[in-house]
Amino acid sequence: MAGVFLDNVSKVYPGGVTAVRGVSFAAPDGAFCVLVGPSGCGKSTLLRMIAGLETISDGRISIGGRVVNDIEPMARDIAMVFQNYALYPHMSVYDNMAYGLRNLKTPESEIAERVGEAARILELTDEMLKRKPRQLSGGQRQRVAMGRAIVRKPSVFLFDEPLSNLDAKLRVQMRIEIRRLQRRLGVTAIYVTHDQLEAMTLADMLVVMSAGRLEQVGAPLELYERPASVFVAGFLGSPPMNFLKGRVEAQGLVRLSNGAPLAYDAAHFGPPLGLDVVAGVRPERARPGPDGAGLPFRVELVEELGLGRLVHGHAGDAAFALALPAGAAPLSGEQQLLDIAPGDVHLFDAGTGLRL
Ligand SMILES: Nc1ncnc2c1ncn2[C@@H]1O[C@H](COP(=O)(O)OP(=O)(O)OP(=O)(O)O)[C@@H](O)[C@H]1O
Ligand SMILES: [Mg+2]
Repeated sequence: MAGVFLDNVSKVYPGGVTAVRGVSFAAPDGAFCVLVGPSGCGKSTLLRMIAGLETISDGRISIGGRVVNDIEPMARDIAMVFQNYALYPHMSVYDNMAYGLRNLKTPESEIAERVGEAARILELTDEMLKRKPRQLSGGQRQRVAMGRAIVRKPSVFLFDEPLSNLDAKLRVQMRIEIRRLQRRLGVTAIYVTHDQLEAMTLADMLVVMSAGRLEQVGAPLELYERPASVFVAGFLGSPPMNFLKGRVEAQGLVRLSNGAPLAYDAAHFGPPLGLDVVAGVRPERARPGPDGAGLPFRVELVEELGLGRLVHGHAGDAAFALALPAGAAPLSGEQQLLDIAPGDVHLFDAGTGLRL
């Protein structure tokens, strides 16, 4: 078992692309840590540096208290599961799972034991172990890829978008299996995805990246409830947080660019008067209010989800979405006034994008 520690890690590819800039975080022993961010933000690069598949341009990475910068991938005590599984098509499922152990000159009797154990955990039958990967379904192949990682008994699992080839239903199922397996084995996991929902549901610890930099690290709900920047606020949550531009007019009051007032909790935010801000409101935190007061909202499209209802529209010139629970009264008319509690308003500096 081992924690993973990154200290000011950077990567500049030959040719000059800086893919990772000064990233530091610590994934504690046994934690499920998810790296999330948009395409191209440097997630795979970071994971590959942890695995030893890319050199580290600057900074230090340690696994289980040992600096691994100059240690070969095989000696890092990690196992990696890739997006495309990378199974050998000409080998049986059994041989695919045994491959890494055979390379390490593990005795066949021990290989049989470990493959058998992994197959049991992953519910791969003896008959499946004899097949070739192409004779399995996508989800079964995914389990073989996991099995190949498990048999190594590593102290860290690294996953790079392992579920992105699967259909939506199987993805949810495998997500639960991966989490259960990781808990059961107690192995530290670092998991890369660009799917914020997958990230929120899997992680003990979320690491949000953008353009090679670390945006915020913390427990999923902590980041959801206290995003450190407009970027994190807009990245986590579906539909994303609504953003309204305005200026601080008085303590506890923002004048929005559409002229409407919006109250915030002055106990939580203390911006200087006159500052240009971005006010953020989660879709589930705004409600059609009583007549006469509130934020003017123009309804444009209603999506019935069964579980609830999404209402898309505009507040002034800003796109705005509402998430209403199932059974909420249908909206009457196209013009609404929205009730937003001051405690549900997040404030960000319009210039820097950072939480105030
Ligand atoms: N071998 C390479 N040589 C030069 N630049 C590279 C190389 N690999 C990746 N990059 C660049 O580094 C940046 C980060 O790439 P990376 O693959 O780490 O992103 P990612 O977050 O995993 O994206 P995705 O979600 O699309 O997989 C990108 O701008 C990419 O073009
Ligand atoms: Mg990637």
